Amino acid sequence: MLSKKMISLLSEQVKNEFESAYLYLIAADYFHSEGLPGFASWYINHSKEEVEHAMIFYDYIHRNNERVQFFNLEPTRTIYSSLTKPLEDTIVHEDFITTCINQIYEVAAKEKDYRTTNFLTWFITEQQEEEENAHANMNKLNLFGNNPAGLYLLDKEMGNRYGKHNKGE
Ligand SMILES: [Fe+2]
Ligand SMILES: [Fe+2]
Repeated sequence: MLSKKMISLLSEQVKNEFESAYLYLIAADYFHSEGLPGFASWYINHSKEEVEHAMIFYDYIHRNNERVQFFNLEPTRTIYSSLTKPLEDTIVHEDFITTCINQIYEVAAKEKDYRTTNFLTWFITEQQEEEENAHANMNKLNLFGNNPAGLYLLDKEMGNRYGKHNKGE
């Protein structure tokens, strides 16, 4: 069983993960508009992963015979005008998500809700990867994105790291 507080926290995380999906989709939209289909593809695929994360929380709540509480999404309304800004935003956002997961874990541990601490272990590991990816993308852009040839090749590489979502393919 889940405490009322835990249902609320887990439900809020459903919202947070959908906000993550939205953030990555906004970045993809910007990269498409900049003629960088590889970057756009990476961010679309990552957006889908975030929806999967939201659904893992959704399923966990239902497997415990409870219902999800729905909150209003508060997606960023940033209109991007530089390639680095969406990457900076995802770094900040992934740090925020890590903090959220840690906070839920802390409450679960205090409540001796070991089922939920166990459930959250996957997300703790996942957040390590999420932060690494966010920083890696920024590092690569800083290293190779300053000239057109480097940016072209980097965009190709980004497009190959997930499946295809490139325009026209
Ligand atoms: Fe996530
Ligand atoms: Fe994420």
